[in-house]
Amino acid sequence: MDPQSTSFPDTQRQSSWLLSSRRLLCFWLVTLALVARAEPPVASSEDVELGRRIYMEGILPSGEPLKGKRQEAVQVEGAEAACETCHRRSGMGSLEGNIVITPITGRFLFATDENRPLALVDPRAPKNLTRAHTPYTEESLAKVIREGIDVSDRTLSPLMPQYALSDVEIKAVLAYLRQLSSEVSPGVGDETLHFATIVAPDVDPKQREAMVDMMRTAFAQRNASQKVYSGRMRMPIDLIPRTLRNWKLTVWELQGAQETWGTQLAENYQREPVFAVISGLSNTTWAPVHSFCQQEKLPCLFPSVTLPPAETAFYPLYYSRGVALEADVLAKHLRDQGKNTPRRLLQVYRDNKVGRGASLALTEAMKGSEIQVENRVLYGDEPIELKAALKGLSSKDAVMLWLRPADLSAVNKAAPKQLPAVTYVSGFLAADNYDFVPKTWKSHVRVVYPYELGAKRQKNVAAMKEWLKTWQLPLVDEAFQTEVFFNLLFLTDLTSQILDNLYRDYLVERAEDMLSLDSNVSAYPHLSLARGQRFASKGAYIARFAPDGNLVADSEWIVP
Ligand code: HEC
Repeated sequence: MDPQSTSFPDTQRQSSWLLSSRRLLCFWLVTLALVARAEPPVASSEDVELGRRIYMEGILPSGEPLKGKRQEAVQVEGAEAACETCHRRSGMGSLEGNIVITPITGRFLFATDENRPLALVDPRAPKNLTRAHTPYTEESLAKVIREGIDVSDRTLSPLMPQYALSDVEIKAVLAYLRQLSSEVSPGVGDETLHFATIVAPDVDPKQREAMVDMMRTAFAQRNASQKVYSGRMRMPIDLIPRTLRNWKLTVWELQGAQETWGTQLAENYQREPVFAVISGLSNTTWAPVHSFCQQEKLPCLFPSVTLPPAETAFYPLYYSRGVALEADVLAKHLRDQGKNTPRRLLQVYRDNKVGRGASLALTEAMKGSEIQVENRVLYGDEPIELKAALKGLSSKDAVMLWLRPADLSAVNKAAPKQLPAVTYVSGFLAADNYDFVPKTWKSHVRVVYPYELGAKRQKNVAAMKEWLKTWQLPLVDEAFQTEVFFNLLFLTDLTSQILDNLYRDYLVERAEDMLSLDSNVSAYPHLSLARGQRFASKGAYIARFAPDGNLVADSEWIVP
């Protein structure tokens, strides 16, 4: 995504929604007839499976590892030699440094002028689209795989290994490539691209409303700006059928116990399959959604959750590890305190999924340090209970409060006579509500703060604030709302970059590649992903209160 395309459209600049996709094809004149697709010959499912193992795992039908050769000497083997390593799961290719790895699915390899699809091969150069070539045949495909000489007799970049595959193995690879990404994913209609967002029970209704309103507004705005353009039909991109589908949003509201969420998700999905899940909200667990997304091969992009599952998978992407990240940041900070190291760290938390997860992460992260960690669970709702949890503090102790505003508001009444050396608060859980901090404590309180601070923060969030104002949407929780905002912009860019190649795994692959190219419009200082990475923000500040009451950084950006 380049900086221009990230500016969210406002009334004056209604054109920007599709700016990037439009720029893609400016000056690039094409005449296309894309509707017909070649009917692939039917391959046996055994061949496809053998091909899959070669492609995805680098295992030959004999069980031996796949071996590839480069420039006579250099060998690659097994998983490293697997086609997926470079051509990716979707077969839609990627960019390695400056080398373009073009799509090698059947649709691209065997395309004729009548059915040639188009893909953007370099997101940094929006005009760089796949070029026409003579359709491959089984023979020319064997030659390019074995000798690195393509269908036009060009010698390929030495990055592509040469593989001494047998005829049977070539046939299996061919069978696999013919069916790979041959059909658009579920949730893609002729006219409509279906998306869902997911709301867990027990979330703040104000947050829920803010998220859904922002999404509906952005979708409506996007669809309206499409109409303006498709009416004109001036740009080549307008000639690519169905790239300009309308977006439709459904809200999946989960209810009841989390054990039943899986079934509810399945029912929703069956009623209306969606191409991807965008954002989402939960204060407790996200694990059932995470499993569902992976099981259905459904991209679930950047929900606002305080504790994502620790086990990563291919399809769910997150802003960060949430409170588990804060725990690691705090541990690193405490270990670097030198002679100010506290003697004891007392952590106070609620006995729920997030509280237990956070305290466990911090306990783990402090293992082996000289600081003794003590757990205090907060029960009940009376200030006296917090007072009990904070009993027996000394000036050599530090305290970590894994608490939300409702609990933090009791701190004033529960403040013990003897203050600890320092009291830490979770930035994710406090959600920018710091009124609770008693005057006498202000200089002793530090926030483990996962977002940007100061002028840079103001600059990053300005675009969203402006957009909210334009559309008369309320500002409820700035950091949270920028998560939703960023996601909507990111989705716009993602969809304009994948053009008509609406495959879910390709969407995720592109998200991995693109995120680091993005200029930031979120409250996070920096968001980046790379292959295999699933958490885009990787650190936090330790922040303190300046005399004017504002939070300022008290440490570098700490990446544990
Ligand atoms: C280490 C990276 C790498 C691996 C592994 C790899 N390729 Fe490639 N492949 C490339 C690159 C790079 C190109 C493009 C080279 C160029 O255009 O000069 C390419 C090109 C191709 C092409 C030609 C595409 C065209 O448009 O003409 C085919 C077909 C192909 N690869 C098939 C495979 C198969 C099948 C495998 C697994 C058995 C595989 N590749 C494994 C890097 C790789």
